[in-house]
Amino acid sequence: MIILGIETSCDDTSAAVVADGRVLSNVVSSQDQIHAEYGGVVPELAARRHLETIQGILDSAISRAGIEYRDVDAIAVTRGPGLMGSLLVGVSAAQGLALRLSVPLLGVSHLEGHVLSPLVEGELELPFLALLVSGGHTSLYLVRSIGDYLEIAATRDDSAGEAFDKAAKMLGLGFPGGRVIDRLAKHGRADAIAFPRARVRADPMALSFSGLKTALWDHLHNRGATESLEDIAASFQEAIVDVLIDRCTRAMTLFDVRRVAVAGGVSANSRLRSRMTSEVTARGGEVVFPPLALCTDNAAMIAAAAYRRLVSGLPSEDVRATSRLPLGCRLTPA
Ligand code: KG4
Ligand code: ZN
Repeated sequence: MIILGIETSCDDTSAAVVADGRVLSNVVSSQDQIHAEYGGVVPELAARRHLETIQGILDSAISRAGIEYRDVDAIAVTRGPGLMGSLLVGVSAAQGLALRLSVPLLGVSHLEGHVLSPLVEGELELPFLALLVSGGHTSLYLVRSIGDYLEIAATRDDSAGEAFDKAAKMLGLGFPGGRVIDRLAKHGRADAIAFPRARVRADPMALSFSGLKTALWDHLHNRGATESLEDIAASFQEAIVDVLIDRCTRAMTLFDVRRVAVAGGVSANSRLRSRMTSEVTARGGEVVFPPLALCTDNAAMIAAAAYRRLVSGLPSEDVRATSRLPLGCRLTPA
């Protein structure tokens, strides 16, 4: 079965072709340059850019997969959560194409796409824990089966990606900043500065990164930071990685689950990858990450999630664009 996936939930325009769960093409057009001068994504600019590029991206996903539009059996599109204007461009394009090709249209949660992305090219038996760390989200789920997700931890404020991006902005490193901090941190000392590892007393699983951001601001502006950029990057990154590992390893014990999947833009982080791997395997567990191309937003994970839902016999979701769309049920207090 050939599924054409479309993803436009934020600032990346993407289309992909997935055949029986295998990625044939995955084309992503990043808008980073457009938003860089504003230090964050500007929703109106994002929607307008999606509109300009979507047709070309679709055509190139089809041609790179070596197929024709008439070979497509179904279309999968991100229906939410995300920026409303951005989502609407993808959903409208998908609706038009499904009508033209007379094929079914499947709505997919962006979060489900991320959570299942480590399985596109990797394997992990169910149930498993899924840590989703991106620019828009930071949550930990217990994946009991495909379509059955329990949110067991979530950030109370900023996401991990936002923390990276805001730190990069403070350090004058541009937007988005996760990748630059990752690169600089490789040459810095992770213990150069003792940044806080926040904990919510009433909920030991909860995450919070806004205090860390303030601590960096304070360090730079009130304490006359003397450390190198590399040391600051490494220490800041370590504070995020420590907290993410703490919540994952606690959840392994709490839920007696040994398998962990890590997904989302921040799962590309090299320090998170190496430390998570050693901490989880030291506890007798196994961990999988998506390949780097499937960490940040992409349509292959959307088409692959739609395929997995189909083969698991799950009903397809509607395609109404929805900006707020939580995944599964929540164990944690809101
Ligand atoms: O999943 P994604 O493309 O978008 C959302 O769904 O939000 O994630 C983007 C985020 C950005 O905050 C970016 O700085 C972060 O992922 N990111 C990284 C790395 N690569 C991307 N953060 C840390 N280390 C990286 N190597
Ligand atoms: Zn995302």
